[in-house]
Amino acid sequence: MDSFSNVIRAASHEQHVEAETSTFMSDLLGGRLGVDAYTRYTEQLWFVYEALESEAGRLASDAVAGPFIRPELFRRGALERDLAHLRGPGWRAGMSALPATRAYAERVRECAERWPAGYVAHHYTRYLGDLSGGQIIRDRAEKAWGFERKGDGVRFYVFEEIGNPAAFKRGYRELLDAVRADDLEKQRVVAECRKAFALNTAVFRELGEEFPLSA
Ligand code: HEM
Repeated sequence: MDSFSNVIRAASHEQHVEAETSTFMSDLLGGRLGVDAYTRYTEQLWFVYEALESEAGRLASDAVAGPFIRPELFRRGALERDLAHLRGPGWRAGMSALPATRAYAERVRECAERWPAGYVAHHYTRYLGDLSGGQIIRDRAEKAWGFERKGDGVRFYVFEEIGNPAAFKRGYRELLDAVRADDLEKQRVVAECRKAFALNTAVFRELGEEFPLSA
């Protein structure tokens, strides 16, 4: 039988392509949008990571979610430095979650509070993606908007405390494979992972509406 980490990856493959090739992402990575769109996107990420990380302390002792809670992954501090750079010292004022972001953050919070295995699906979808494709986004952002390499503006994509991301990802997949849950629960986690991708795509859709390209 296929390992759980392979099942999750295969189950979300199509949606990964969809997210990657969404109009907003393509325009952003294609250098067709301004830094204001990048800033708005970074704002949305803050709301999502706030939901992912504010319950992390409590989840650290949970049998299922606990092994995944690794401080070297935490992104909120890095996002706040990026936002201070992008929006200025009063970065918090006037930030707003898009409706799709609000729905995403609410779902993450719900899982964090009531269903640790579901929380793992959200954890995987964000952090493993950030460790992978996030590096491509960082490279493009540095070039498009002139951020210092791995500096303010793109710190979200820099995992200072993870020296070897490939090895870290291998270890992460081993943690997924070691999740103690029966088949039905694993199916639910896979479904939650697909939902997590859909929630991300919905955020991209709304960002795309807010930043349409002038034809
Ligand atoms: C333009 C945007 C994106 C690019 C260029 C990109 C690119 C990549 C690349 C190159 C990998 C490495 C695959 C591997 O390690 O074998 C990856 C993995 C991954 N990405 Fe993305 N990605 C993007 C957007 C996203 C989004 C929006 C999500 C979800 C929120 C996401 C979630 C993931 C996950 C969970 C993995 C790990 C798959 C696994 O090995 O289990 N990615 N991505």
